[in-house]
This record gives sequence, structure tokens and C-alpha cells, in this order.
Amino acid sequence: MKSMMHNTSLYLSPWKNDFSVFQNQMNGKDFVYLDTASSAQKPRVVLDRLHTAYTSHYANIHRGLYDFSQSMTAEFEAVRARVLKFCGVPNTYHAIFTRNTTESINLVAASWGIQNLKAGDEIVLTQMEHHANIVPWQMVAEKTGAIIRYIQLNENDELDLDHFKSLLNERTKILSVVHVSNSLGVINPVADMIQTARTFNENILTMVDASQSVVHGGANIKTLQTPDFIVFTAHKLYGPNGVGVLIGRADILNSMQPYQGGGDMIETVSFTGSTYKESPEKFEAGTPAISEVIALGAAIDYVEHAFQNGAAEHEAALTDYMMEQLSQIDGIKIYAPHAKRAGVVSFNLNGIHHADVAMTLDQMGIAVRTGHHCCMPLMGVLGVAGTVRASVGLYSEGSDIDALVRGLHKAQELLG
Ligand code: ALA
Repeated sequence: MKSMMHNTSLYLSPWKNDFSVFQNQMNGKDFVYLDTASSAQKPRVVLDRLHTAYTSHYANIHRGLYDFSQSMTAEFEAVRARVLKFCGVPNTYHAIFTRNTTESINLVAASWGIQNLKAGDEIVLTQMEHHANIVPWQMVAEKTGAIIRYIQLNENDELDLDHFKSLLNERTKILSVVHVSNSLGVINPVADMIQTARTFNENILTMVDASQSVVHGGANIKTLQTPDFIVFTAHKLYGPNGVGVLIGRADILNSMQPYQGGGDMIETVSFTGSTYKESPEKFEAGTPAISEVIALGAAIDYVEHAFQNGAAEHEAALTDYMMEQLSQIDGIKIYAPHAKRAGVVSFNLNGIHHADVAMTLDQMGIAVRTGHHCCMPLMGVLGVAGTVRASVGLYSEGSDIDALVRGLHKAQELLG
């Protein structure tokens, strides 16, 4: 059955014009961007702030006893406070700037993990984690003898919470779980899971990968049952590249060894040894991405304002529309079809390789991600080499979904 095309004026985005990229064409066609889960496009206010930071009073921070350096330092530190406020974080927490989510997780794994895990201890992850929340723990497990347990999926491609409960035991030391799966879009019940883990043993460390949820308005740490650590990245939050965030409990951070050594994280250095600052500076060795952090502040202002003005509702309606339209295509297999989801739909067309679908869409100006989405173990569980993933942002519109549906019919005509 051919998909019914709806009147998509209900799904117009009041934010789309804030993004210059949509004035461009791709392969001679209007640019249809359905790959926001990979990286969000940047609004002009973010690019303007970045430009201003580099051109009006740029200087290194924390080092110069002159006006420009001190005002850059003040702007940089104001964004640290802004991030904490954005996430509703209690004052017993710190925000640390890293390069990306991957580095934030590596920091916790390498520092807390190596210091605290021993042979036989158990790390609980899920089968739908991104490689960034698997590989660092495998590296720690190799060094310490700790064991990784994975929460399985049920027949609906959602987490099997009974299996999760069965994994908890006296050896469980950390639960690290993705809030919204980058591959499937499934929203995991992380608050309930954290509560379950803490009820079992209050000393189990809890970490949430919020990379795909902050972008859909899910940043408030309290709605996640205030985990010990929360990680996300600026580039998925309409911000610049090269900035990640690690929010963590200050007492735990202060008990951890530094992840990297160098300038700005030390108190004293001699030829025979060094002493370190407290968190958060202890974890920020070297000159950070100063202007990019400052531009993250603009991204947070932008996103917060958009979410106060209906962006989450717009994205939710658009995601429902995408599900409804894709479900009507003959020969489509949608993963986690019944799950509560945020902005992402993953699927395959019967008998057509996902990469061939992507190439057909590319020729029509439509960008999606295909492949394993940095979740190779999950693809094994689903029994596929990869999927086609379409993901929306606050600038997406109903016409983008309609273009995707036309593209998929075209792929079926050409390749099916
Ligand atoms: N983690 C990003 C994605 O899901 C790159 O595409």
C-alpha cells in the first residue's frame, strides 16, 4: 500500500529559518536533513557567538592577568554554571568539559574504574549501548578483571527489566545506561532503573548517557533520579564540535585520580612530582575548546527557549507522523515499533541493503544514517548488519518525512 500523504502544514517548524544550512541544496535538491541524531545543525546564534568569541576579545583562559583573558575566563566559567542550571543539578555536583561524550565516559572508566574495580566486580551495561559506553569498560575490565553484564532486549527491542533485576548482585559496582538509544530511539526507563539499583545497593555507581535525550529536552537530572554521573555532547545539542560534558557528584570526582596530566590541572609541579587542583579543574588538563564552550552557552540558551516554546511537542508530533507514514510502506521492518521513542526511527526495507537505500536517498537530497550506528553488538542482537536510521530535530518538518517516504518508494522501485 502506498503511504497516505497528509497535509503537513501542522508540522512546519518555526525554528527552521534560524539554520542557514537549509538554504543550500544537496545533489541539486532541497536539503532534507534526517540525521540529527548523528549531529545537529547549528543555528546562527551559536555560530555568531563562536565568531564573536574568536574575533572580539579572544585570549587563553585561567592564565592571563589582562582584561581579555579575564573576560574570556569569566564567559567560559559562566557556561559551566549555565550547564549545571540547564540540567537542574544540585550544588553537590560539578560540570567538567571534555571533548565529547566518548571522552566523558572514558574519563570515568579510566579514573573511577581503574581505582575502584577489582577482579570479579561487575559492570552492568545494556545491549543497546553505543560503542562509547562499551569499549572503555572493556578496556577497564581487561586491566582489572572486572566482568561486564549486558541487560538484554525483550521481543519488542526494549530493555528486559526482569533481566536487569536478575543481574544485580553483591558484585555489581556500576550501572551505566543510555537514556535514549541512538540506534533505535527507544527511551529507556533510566530513573526506575537507577532507583532499582540503589534500592538493591546504594553504593552502586550510576551513570546516564544523555547524548540523545538532552537534544529532545530531557536534560533535567532530577527526572533521571539524579544519577552520580551524566554525560552528553555539545554537537548534538545544536552546539559546536569538540566539547563534551561530564556532570558528576563532586565527592566522587574529588576522590578520583586525574585522567590526563598537564597545564591548568596542577597546583604545584617539581621535577620529582606534582600536586593537583580539586575537581573540576583536576580533569581539564591543557587549553580547552574555549570559544566552543562559550558557544555551547548560546546553544543552551537557544534550546531552552525553543523547548519553552513547544519544540518537544513539535518533535514528538513529527516522530509520530514519521512512524505512521513509515509503517504504511510495504516491506518495511521497523525496529522497536511499539517503544516510547524520541526523534529516531530505525528500519530496513526487505531485500534491499541499507547502504543502497542511503545512496538512493542521497541522490534525492535526503540525509539519513545507515550502518551499525556505532552499536555493532546491538545489530548482532537484531540479526542485521545495519539499519537505515532517520532522526528529526526541532528544524524538521512534515515535508522532510514526506520526502523520505517518496525516497523509500523510489529505492523499492529501483532496487527491490
Ligand atoms: N553517535 C552518533 C550517531 O548516533 C554519531 O550517529
